[in-house]
Amino acid sequence: MNKSTLNWILETRNSAYCFGINDDGYLINSYWGKRKNEKTDYPLPIQKAGWASFDSSANVLPQEYPVYGGAFHHEPCLKITFVDGVRDLVLVYDSDWSSQNEIRIKLRDTYYPLQVILHYKTHANYDLIERWVEVINKGKEALTIERIFSAQWHFPEQQQYYLSHLSGKWGDEFHLIREALTSGVKVLESRRITSSHHHNPWFMIDAGNATETEGEVWFGALAWSGNWKLATEVTNFDMTRISMGINDWDFAWKLNGGEKLITPSAFAGYTQGGFGQASRSLHNFIRELVIPHGANPHKILYNSWEATFFDVDEISQTRLAEIAASMGVELFVLDDGWFYNRNSDHAGLGDWWPDPVKFPCGLQPLIQKVNHLGMDFGLWIEPEMVNPDSDLYRAHPDWILHFPTRERTLARNQCILNMALPVVQEYLIEKMDHLLKENNIAFIKWDMNRNVSEPGWLHPPGDPKEIWVRYVQGLYRVWGELRHRHPNVILQSCSGGGGRADVGILHLADQIWVSDNTKALDRLQIQHGFSMAYPAIIMEAWVTDADRGTLPLSFRFHVSMCGSLGIGGNLLHWSEEERNEAAYWISHYKSLREIIQLGDQYRLGYYATQYMSKDFQQGVLFVFNIGQPVQATSVKVRLQGLRPEAIYEIEGLNEVKSGLDWMLKDLVFPLELFESTVREIHQKNE
Ligand code: GLA
Repeated sequence: MNKSTLNWILETRNSAYCFGINDDGYLINSYWGKRKNEKTDYPLPIQKAGWASFDSSANVLPQEYPVYGGAFHHEPCLKITFVDGVRDLVLVYDSDWSSQNEIRIKLRDTYYPLQVILHYKTHANYDLIERWVEVINKGKEALTIERIFSAQWHFPEQQQYYLSHLSGKWGDEFHLIREALTSGVKVLESRRITSSHHHNPWFMIDAGNATETEGEVWFGALAWSGNWKLATEVTNFDMTRISMGINDWDFAWKLNGGEKLITPSAFAGYTQGGFGQASRSLHNFIRELVIPHGANPHKILYNSWEATFFDVDEISQTRLAEIAASMGVELFVLDDGWFYNRNSDHAGLGDWWPDPVKFPCGLQPLIQKVNHLGMDFGLWIEPEMVNPDSDLYRAHPDWILHFPTRERTLARNQCILNMALPVVQEYLIEKMDHLLKENNIAFIKWDMNRNVSEPGWLHPPGDPKEIWVRYVQGLYRVWGELRHRHPNVILQSCSGGGGRADVGILHLADQIWVSDNTKALDRLQIQHGFSMAYPAIIMEAWVTDADRGTLPLSFRFHVSMCGSLGIGGNLLHWSEEERNEAAYWISHYKSLREIIQLGDQYRLGYYATQYMSKDFQQGVLFVFNIGQPVQATSVKVRLQGLRPEAIYEIEGLNEVKSGLDWMLKDLVFPLELFESTVREIHQKNE
């Protein structure tokens, strides 16, 4: 960093990000791309005059954190109304602080007692930069924040860019879309109080020349599990940028004198290694620095939901547990239906104690049996939800999100607790803590089965529109407290499948239930999209009865083995032959799971995936014939990720060749329609 000219350079292993203050006092991004050999070679912040009397210089500069104010007309990161009604921000440089991997730039308003601190942190091994912002009201009067983003990221000027993003709906999540950006703003967002099935807070940007294996890709994600917004903008000067943060839709935050508001973190990175390397950087980062237990592969679980639905009791679950254990399953998860008065989705949510009819002696006897069979025990909960037909709702109808003069819209017969209320947070902490203390529970599946409606709050301390943020803060508090009290429990985030999959919840959760759609062919597409942002270790994938009779069991297993394997079918209906085959794949998966969950993933198409151990010694390849092209009787793939100079053997192929040679050649696997294969890859040590 060169203090005299106020320029800052952040370098990661392969990339660099530079910004500085230009002569007019604007904080300008000057570079984001490949790391250079010498610091002197990075460009300095530009000066730029505006265009005629219509575009100020603010409009034509790549500002690090543009604010609403002055003659600026593009997407700002911060918009504030002061107590006197002024809605114009003028931020200037105040001071800075830096350490090895962190920089803070303090800005202040020229008139009002307001400070804005921009935080930058490098995660060098992952080529990622983390940014977040603090807004501090140093005065006595309250002000209102109407937009507060975490960051704006700028791409090198005047290129045609393409945006990759993930879109979907319940049962049909994570479709990968790549589209050309043209002049204007393209918004991806959630307005649903969770990060949502609709869009995912993640992006990749390329200039049209990137492939899975090479080319420049800029990529990022927002660590937020509530309403978020990602606004990609191409200006009238062909400058492309992405702003990301908490959604400003229906948002306002009253910041009293002396208070501060801190944004969630936005992460973004750069690679020359194509989409695949961009994903692997995110995967490694999430596994090594974000999720709580990223060093340990997950146990193979059985979940009884699709076998017994709400019809659970000690006997039915014990029978399933015995079969699961005999097949090699390591964790038995009791899903919905176990708690008080929960016989259908019409009642019970809120009353988190075992139903005395189904479990007269509580959960202990079942847990003991499961443990005795050599398995851990896991439990499904949906704490944010409440059925009107529950003791909790009857006692506290005011605890839910609602407007007093409006109907309370139900979805799946349930309402949403106002997680912003400390009393609600404490109720849930107390109830969940009790469950975890009283029972030997190793795994929790935390669900949320609806989107928001009537986001009202009776007596908010600040602006009622703070609910969107305070809800998520409350949720994080409850999860955080439970994680603190029960650090070894594995928490899974589920919201009707993949409705709450984001880097924010992953600071607390180890796994995501990616979709309620467990059809293997659909899953291949869903898993492919999911892998763009998230690693295999967090992707729980069950073999169910969805394709029983239509797709081979081996095909269904191979699809689920691409993530963290689970079983969800009704084992009582599985024949001896099916159980034996399942046991075989479970045992095979155990021998491969370190590579799949802790290694690197290479997408060879969504019909083929390869995983390599970190030391490049071992790998595993999954190939599927999904019927494209029609009537294909073989599938061609080209390996990636081998060490070029090392010698490898691929299971079933009678050749031993260098990694380079294998990677230069199409491998052709004869496979009939809906046939699949799994092949181990071994480095030969001479
Ligand atoms: C959601 C989940 C399912 C199951 C049900 C239980 O739909 O995604 O896996 O847990 O709830 O009600």
